[in-house]
Amino acid sequence: MKSKTKLSTLETKEQSLAPGIEVKTSPIDGKGCYATRFFRKGNRIAEYIGERISRREIKRRLQGAHRIHICAIDSYWAIDGNVGGNGTQYINHSCNPNGDLKIIDGRIYFYALKNIYPGEEITLDYISSWHDDQTRCSCGAPSCRGTINKI
Ligand SMILES: C[S@@+](CC[C@H](N)C(=O)[O-])C[C@H]1O[C@@H](n2cnc3c(N)ncnc32)[C@H](O)[C@@H]1O
Ligand SMILES: [Zn+2]
Repeated sequence: MKSKTKLSTLETKEQSLAPGIEVKTSPIDGKGCYATRFFRKGNRIAEYIGERISRREIKRRLQGAHRIHICAIDSYWAIDGNVGGNGTQYINHSCNPNGDLKIIDGRIYFYALKNIYPGEEITLDYISSWHDDQTRCSCGAPSCRGTINKI
């Protein structure tokens, strides 16, 4: 059975978390996504789910957004994890990530780049996202490049 939690961005709506993850405060930024079980290197963690939106709607929702929870599928479509997300929308960026994403048949999946143990925060290299190129990175990795986007 899927675990249930209340996510602060949608105070009144209960959402289901993907199995094996939880959402809690992160030293990187705001809330982060944490493993509650072991994910072996190379294995799938979860699908990034939410509302599928088109380019025009992406542009509209990005206006004034402080934190971005929209992930691109291709140059036209994206998933907005703020609407019906499963906790993976809280995966923070790290310059030394333990996770990665793959797009398969128009769907977005997270994979473990390394063995991930219970209690570890799951992170991803945003590489190229809709963040301003000057957005400072607070991942704390010794290899931190200083910005969320790779510039
Ligand atoms: C997908 S959300 C991640 C969850 C976010 N921490 C929250 O509480 O909603 C992406 C946003 O988190 C913040 N963020 C994620 N990783 C970051 C990092 N390494 N340094 C600074 N801010 C980060 C940025 O504001 C970004 O737009
Ligand atoms: Zn960094």
